[in-house]
Amino acid sequence: MTHLTTKALKGRHFLRVADWKPDELKAALDLGDELKMLLARGRPHRLLPGRSIALIFKKASTRTRVSFEVGICQLGGTGVSITAEHTHLARGETLKDTACVLSRYVDAIVIRTGPHSDVDELASYSSVPVLNALTDSSHPCQALADVMTIRERYGRLEGVRLAFLGDGNNVCASLMVAAAKLGMSFIAACPPGYEPAKQALADAAEAAAESGATIEIVSDPEQAAAAADVLYTDVWVSMGEEDERDERLAAFQGYSINEHLLELAGPEAFVMHCLPAHYGEEISEEIAHGPRSAIWDQAENRLHAQKALMALVMR
Ligand code: CP
Ligand code: NVA
Repeated sequence: MTHLTTKALKGRHFLRVADWKPDELKAALDLGDELKMLLARGRPHRLLPGRSIALIFKKASTRTRVSFEVGICQLGGTGVSITAEHTHLARGETLKDTACVLSRYVDAIVIRTGPHSDVDELASYSSVPVLNALTDSSHPCQALADVMTIRERYGRLEGVRLAFLGDGNNVCASLMVAAAKLGMSFIAACPPGYEPAKQALADAAEAAAESGATIEIVSDPEQAAAAADVLYTDVWVSMGEEDERDERLAAFQGYSINEHLLELAGPEAFVMHCLPAHYGEEISEEIAHGPRSAIWDQAENRLHAQKALMALVMR
């Protein structure tokens, strides 16, 4: 229970993976593993009695919202779910004022929104930790659960070859930086024009220089899949990009995870997807529910990883 008592991360925001040191990310992974084990054994782990979190969602969510709400409840606290259109945010109340007010009621704020600058602004005026539940450019909570899932299966992260296929968007960007921090061998195959953003590439390069990770961006899905330990994908049309659907579907043809790419990957390789999936596009329902899928463990691990995150920053 080494990490259950640590106070080192108390009060910290979790806005982007790049902000946390490798050891801090590992502390969250270790605690996530411990909390998963305690829950499985039916052992109480009420690390946050009487604490509360506000959950502001400006975009749809199934996994993130439910795992945070259930997670805070299992830790002995309460979640207050806020749909942005039912608050004064929708009527022009500023993020600054919202941060100042919520900080007087709750012990942490979880926010899902479009522009990353919204998260930065909220955090700059909040006196309680702010946890990023997805923006247009990042999804750090997803990345935490993803590396937890990979470590759970392989027993290590260093040197594991993680291949991402498809859109180098928010999920890919955070995963790439996490992989870079944790010494993995990351390769993404993205169609030209859909590579990860410059800032994420720079963050990953800086982290890789310290950890010894390798980061590669290519356009050929077969090159990425070859000898991979993990094949990971995300939707081709993210929330807010619905108007680009036709051009995106055309651009991503050939980037689906299929039996052929699985064949090229290592014999033990498994597939991951942050979900929700669009079957028939980036992955098939058969593969997502098949024997080589880690997708449902991955979704479950959102709960354990975020419980660890809350416990570390709120205690
Ligand atoms: N993967 C993920 O963040 O799922 P939700 O959009 O359902 O929260
Ligand atoms: N890239 C997707 C991830 C959903 C969890 C989106 O932003 O819609």
